[in-house]
Amino acid sequence: EAPTGAGPRLVLVGPMGVGKSTVGALLAARLGVAYRDTDDDIVAAEGRPISEIFVDDGEEHFRALEKAAVAAALAEHDGVLALGGGAILDAGTRALLAAHPVVYLSMDVDEAVRRTGLNVARPLLTVNPRKQWRELMEARRHLYTEVARVVVATDGRTPEEVAEAVLDAT
Ligand code: S3P
Repeated sequence: EAPTGAGPRLVLVGPMGVGKSTVGALLAARLGVAYRDTDDDIVAAEGRPISEIFVDDGEEHFRALEKAAVAAALAEHDGVLALGGGAILDAGTRALLAAHPVVYLSMDVDEAVRRTGLNVARPLLTVNPRKQWRELMEARRHLYTEVARVVVATDGRTPEEVAEAVLDAT
């Protein structure tokens, strides 16, 4: 039987490297619920890393897989759910998220460059991290804000402090 409208206890969105996985696992432990990450779901289903999906089949194909993975996780998971940084690019996904307690973990460009650097496992950052981060943030900031009920800034904070701020704010 499909669970009727329970949905995740919390959904984390925000740019890659902001700490969604680390903070999400801390939050799940604090709340006594399970943690789930749609990137992990995709990697498990595909049997290959995300960087390989991008290289072999392109970003558009990855986005289609991601859209389906997010819809499935929102329907099935009742714990803490973290979405990949680009999941909010899809308008259908944003519409689904309107029904859920979404928290946007934010960071500024300097913090993003410091945390991720030149990261070969992250296909969107492999040429010029600072320029690419600036463009990504400009293209996406309003989309994160649109889907979020709460925004928690992570700049200069430890994952424990961020988790605490999320619990205070929700
Ligand atoms: C992406 C973020 C990544 C992953 C993929 C694309 C993005 O997830 O889904 O590399 O477009 O921002 P994380 O935010 O979990 O790193």
